[in-house]
Amino acid sequence: MCGIIGCFSKEGCYEKLMAGLARLEYRGYDSAGVALLSPDGALAVRKKKGGVAGLAGAPLPGDTGIGHTRWATHGKPSDANAHPHVAGKFALVHNGIVENYARLRAELAAAGETFVSETDSEVIVRLIARLYGGDFFAAVSAACARLEGSYAVAVLCSDFPGQIICAKQKSPLVAGASGGDLYVCSDIPALAGAAEYVCPAEDGEFIRIAAGRVVFCDGQGKEIPKVFTRLTAASRAETGGGSFMEREIAAVPRALADTLASLRASDFAPCARAMRAARRVFAVACGTAFHAALAFKDAVERDAGVPVLCHPSSEFRYRDPLVGPGDLVVAVSQSGETADTLEAARLAKSRGAYLLSVTNVECSTLAALADHNVAMRAGAEIAVAATKSYNCQLLCLYYLAAQLTFFRCTRWPAWFSSLDALAPAARAAFDSFSAVRALAERLRGAGGMYFIGRGQDVRTAAEGALKVKEIAYLFAEGCAAGELKHGTLALVEEGFPVLAVATSRRLAQKCENALAEAKARGAYAALFSQYEDVLSESCADFTCRLPAVTEALMPVVAVIPLQYFACSMCLLRGYDPDKPRNLAKSVTVE
Ligand code: F6R
Repeated sequence: MCGIIGCFSKEGCYEKLMAGLARLEYRGYDSAGVALLSPDGALAVRKKKGGVAGLAGAPLPGDTGIGHTRWATHGKPSDANAHPHVAGKFALVHNGIVENYARLRAELAAAGETFVSETDSEVIVRLIARLYGGDFFAAVSAACARLEGSYAVAVLCSDFPGQIICAKQKSPLVAGASGGDLYVCSDIPALAGAAEYVCPAEDGEFIRIAAGRVVFCDGQGKEIPKVFTRLTAASRAETGGGSFMEREIAAVPRALADTLASLRASDFAPCARAMRAARRVFAVACGTAFHAALAFKDAVERDAGVPVLCHPSSEFRYRDPLVGPGDLVVAVSQSGETADTLEAARLAKSRGAYLLSVTNVECSTLAALADHNVAMRAGAEIAVAATKSYNCQLLCLYYLAAQLTFFRCTRWPAWFSSLDALAPAARAAFDSFSAVRALAERLRGAGGMYFIGRGQDVRTAAEGALKVKEIAYLFAEGCAAGELKHGTLALVEEGFPVLAVATSRRLAQKCENALAEAKARGAYAALFSQYEDVLSESCADFTCRLPAVTEALMPVVAVIPLQYFACSMCLLRGYDPDKPRNLAKSVTVE
């Protein structure tokens, strides 16, 4: 959702900026650009529609620079709308949305400013230029005071070589340092391998790189003391061949093992009271994380006997939800920066609820906002489509469901002793990949498909469908098997693929009945189950045996062949699984 970066380096600033931009590209890839400032005050800008690779050319001179990868909000992807935006002595990159930009734009235009882009971001740099009276920091601070909405900005001024001024409000921003190299960036994974130490900024704070130092300050320029922490290997992206998505699926067993170890080392005592006394339990999340939240609901209702109200974060705050003091709200977000989930979490907190977050980024805004954060250890996830983080979200949420059961019912769910089996089972799921790839080859030309399941498998079906839509650009719907005949079945005709997941013995026959009904109408039927007898007695055209773990934990494993199926469909259809069109990894705008 746009990535910004700034770098001060006496050696190879341009190369370091470009390398950082390449690592940031998962946040947006509509256009990219850099601006470099030389010690003599010369400002050089290069920006272009398309990805970071399109910027290639002779290195721009300078020891101070800013860069941007764009996910378009205001104005289509074009060279003119690409950042950095320039006004007079200033160049600026921005992530976020300036909600009052139309008013500001009209005001600036009336004062004689000529705009060259359609973006809201250009308003900020023109405002800074107008407000400038020789004090760089004061101009940025005064301009930011006039903005409504969200922003993380990094600004250069040709009067101040060696300086970058940054501001943050509701969009993520971190500072990094390594030897004499100083950085600011939208997120930590993009600094992995470059910065040794990092420190996130909070809303309303400014970061100033000047005289070879990076300092945090308030709007008046008063320094705010901060502690930088060492960047761990866990923040690094998965290495190896193939796409990030393939590498991230391959990393699922490792990610589950690390997450389990971390959960076991965590102290849940600080949230025991909130869990024990919760009047109601809510779960809020978006997209894939929402599917994990639904799986949490299944587990808590079954094991702890407590109803869980699940809301997509984007709906939560506009529904005037019945949330208040004594309620427990679980917010699930891989990035911890999803704007909708953050707003839902803020609303819950402002109404007096206890906020528990589950994130993959410990120093994220959501983790900082929460009363208690449960950290997954998936490691940096770069592919836009979430995979390993989903498996880890499920593990964390099941673990949380077990804590809730213990705190409320003074017993652990029976499956709680089987968690060690998850990582080996995830690895065993890879055995199905050649068959799953053959299925993808068979279905690569399909016009659409259904994923069906019953009980907890409905969540897996929904997640499988989301992956296919997202990266293979095929219509796909995940639905409860029993719902097929209530309308959905009308679309089934000769060859239409219906993929069923049946991990519950009790419900397997019912799921199979739905599959048979679809097959009777010509569907191409595929069945995923851990039960040999269910598979052998089924009428499916394709069967995939899932590795067996205790049924309650099967969603963590059953989704893996579906993740790989979507990835294979994507590759076979000639698309890039890491950068699906129209999407970006971290959705930091509403
Ligand atoms: C789908 C996907 C998205 C995210 C959603 C929430 O593969 O990745 O649906 O799950 O945008 O993101 P986080 O978890 O960062 O809040």
